[in-house]
Amino acid sequence: MRISVFGTGYLGATHAAGMAELGHEVVGVDIDPVKIERLSRGEVPFYEPGLPELLRKHVESGRLRFTTDAADAAAFADVHFIGVGTPQVKGENAADMRFVNAVIETLAPLLTRPATILGKSTVPVGTAARLAHRINELAPVGEAAQLGWNPEFLREGFAVEDTLRPDRLVLGVDRANPGHVEHVVREVYATILARDTPFIVTDLATAELVKVSANAFLATKISFINAIAEVCEVSGGDVAELADAIGYDARIGRKFLGAGLGFGGGCLPKDIRAFMARAGELGVDQALTFLREVDSVNLRRREHVVEMARREVGGSLNGTRIAVLGAAFKPNSDDVRDSPALDVAGKLHLAGADVRIYDPQAMDNARAVSPTLTYAHDLRAAVSDADLVIVATEWREFRDLIPSDLDGLVAARRVIDGRNCLDAPAWVAAGWTYRGLGRYAA
Ligand code: UGA
Repeated sequence: MRISVFGTGYLGATHAAGMAELGHEVVGVDIDPVKIERLSRGEVPFYEPGLPELLRKHVESGRLRFTTDAADAAAFADVHFIGVGTPQVKGENAADMRFVNAVIETLAPLLTRPATILGKSTVPVGTAARLAHRINELAPVGEAAQLGWNPEFLREGFAVEDTLRPDRLVLGVDRANPGHVEHVVREVYATILARDTPFIVTDLATAELVKVSANAFLATKISFINAIAEVCEVSGGDVAELADAIGYDARIGRKFLGAGLGFGGGCLPKDIRAFMARAGELGVDQALTFLREVDSVNLRRREHVVEMARREVGGSLNGTRIAVLGAAFKPNSDDVRDSPALDVAGKLHLAGADVRIYDPQAMDNARAVSPTLTYAHDLRAAVSDADLVIVATEWREFRDLIPSDLDGLVAARRVIDGRNCLDAPAWVAAGWTYRGLGRYAA
């Protein structure tokens, strides 16, 4: 099939390469000429394991190309995916729909033959119905341009795997006028569906809600365990053991019960806020007020780590040297959007600490958003002469650290394990003051 993907960020670029891998001919479209130029050379402008290989393979095979020209994509493809961002509006909870709207305003007037538009971006419920109406108004081909909503559940760091082997596919269609959308989507994902991947077809609103509900649930699960961590901290409990114990209950499950610095990134934080904002518009804000608490618990973890650091260094951060290991919002990603690690580093810096940050992949992005912070070129440089080491992102390089790796480098043997990812007894045995989150309160 001939496919276009609008937006070439973490989602769009991966989806475009994934569609080529499934055997389709694909064009990726973006308004950023620099990105398009790099992608056309087979270069991924961000860190995503496995994606560079996939991209190069299909750019070389000729099945995948990139353009800034929407008219080219409209003339070429019969199926158009929308994979542009829906960031948080500055100073508000709502999602910024500018980019999604712009794709429709640009693409729809170019549709002169039957086409299927499939939304992948995370949007407030009701968006798809509004866009379907707009497409109808704008497309020369009229009702033969059809819209479906096909939310994306990929995780950064596992984006290729999640695209090619999703645990389910969801499609929302206009039930009053379903047309050929389901048929087209079954053809697009034929290889995946042949493996008996669950395929759930819903109306447009449900498909939109599936996506935000999934992210709201994941955020709630993380904040639940972080709330319990707060209780553990004042009562002497150990949240990691507790999570193991409750996680064996299949109804609960151990995944996403990792207590620590909490969730960040370009999705979970802004999605729960946009969900609350939309519920407010719909007059059911009370239904989602608990998400405000989910957000607060999450942000409190960051403050808590700063307070822990202050205590560990003797009451004042001013003039202390602190190594922050990690800047990305999670390992296997260079994404620093709403990163707990970078937030903590910034707060420590503001409190007068001399902060040295090191991250295996996210240094350039971190420098771009927080240019006033100090970055070390490697782990050793970050920890040298440190009064305190904070592990803020659980990269393997940090998880695998053993205390002797830092011997003779640090000024004081103190570590805050912001992701509960170190072998605590080993650090304690080596004479370190070890502090986890929600554990070893004493
Ligand atoms: C999330 C969802 O997991 C994806 O399914 C979804 O498609 C994506 O958002 C999206 O909407 O695009 P992602 O943001 O890549 O994916 O990251 P996650 O793996 O969900 O992690 C989110 C944050 O939660 C990270 O900061 C991570 O460190 C934190 N986390 C995760 C915890 O603090 N504890 C855990 O146990 C798990």
